Amino acid sequence: MTVCVIGGAGYIGAHVVRLLREQGTPVVVIDDLSNSTAERVGDATLVQFDIAADGALGRITEVLKNHDVDAVIHFAAKKQVGESVAEPLFYYQQNIGGLVNVLTAMQAAGVDKMIFSSSAATYGEPDVAVVSEDVVGNPINPYGRTKLIGEWILADCARAWGLKWVALRYFNVAGSGWEDLGDSVVMNLIPMVLDRLAKNEAPRIFGDDYDTPDGTCIRDYVHVRDLAQAHIESIAALDTGMTEHIFNVGTGQGSSVKEVIEAIGRVTGLDTTAVVEGHRAGDPPKLIANADRLERTMGFRSTAGLDEIVESAWKAWQAGPRRIDVG
Ligand SMILES: NC(=O)c1ccc[n+]([C@@H]2O[C@H](COP(=O)([O-])OP(=O)(O)OC[C@H]3O[C@@H](n4cnc5c(N)ncnc54)[C@H](O)[C@@H]3O)[C@@H](O)[C@H]2O)c1
Repeated sequence: MTVCVIGGAGYIGAHVVRLLREQGTPVVVIDDLSNSTAERVGDATLVQFDIAADGALGRITEVLKNHDVDAVIHFAAKKQVGESVAEPLFYYQQNIGGLVNVLTAMQAAGVDKMIFSSSAATYGEPDVAVVSEDVVGNPINPYGRTKLIGEWILADCARAWGLKWVALRYFNVAGSGWEDLGDSVVMNLIPMVLDRLAKNEAPRIFGDDYDTPDGTCIRDYVHVRDLAQAHIESIAALDTGMTEHIFNVGTGQGSSVKEVIEAIGRVTGLDTTAVVEGHRAGDPPKLIANADRLERTMGFRSTAGLDEIVESAWKAWQAGPRRIDVG
């Protein structure tokens, strides 16, 4: 079985590529390297182009046919919420245009299996703290909408031409499965804190007066290694005739921003005394995955705890170009 991993040079994709290669699965990666570097794909074949550009449809079809691809894992997307609000059309062109090209190429090449990177952003600001997949999606920004629309498109293709699909709704992805595959972009909490510490600045907390025990926002942090494994389980599950398609990937446990910053202090030995700033728009107080469906259907649950996640993120940070001198 050959797997085509689109966006396979990125943070999460590179973990899946490495797991697949470790189990001997042939992998071809399509990535335009707009947010990554080529060495992250290791010995997998890399074909570099933008899947949403003019002419991409033919190139994707060619890759699928030439490499005899059986399944596609689709990570490639733009993922910055703020940027999606400022440039919605760019997000629809990249995330929806890119997905439509991939699915059209799959149909043309006779490839009928797809694992899709969705997001907890599809829920928006739900009324409940622990969300199951049955909570109706109500995304509050264009980025989240591209993910929910992506799921609808997959469901339509399943009805029309028998696409087998799984959408994984990731919660807060963090950590690193290998030291050379850390999250190199400063967008999520742990890299943001490490970035501030590397610059000798205090970590920032955006609001400490939320309705939570310590006043800071609570999220469900999932180890990227566990998330990568969920993709491997999902490919296998596509052949089981399961009727569910959308799965949360989280631990079912929440950690507050303060708890994460404290864990970083514990693991690194650095002073992580934080400064408190104002709320960011669209940050619900508490967002935790109900991760039961994945366990019930595929027998898989992410179990790595916060300290393990932070330790792995710290190791990868220290192996990278912005090592922090800890004396
Ligand atoms: N990281 C998170 O916390 C998180 C949470 C929820 C969902 N997701 C989703 O998971 C997926 C992967 O996220 P990530 O954190 O690994 O992001 P990433 O930016 O590290 O990886 C995306 C990869 O896709 C490539 N890419 C982007 N647009 C492309 C295009 N038009 N053509 C070809 N390649 C393109 C990038 O170069 C990059 O290598 C994304 O779809 C993202 O929306 C991520």
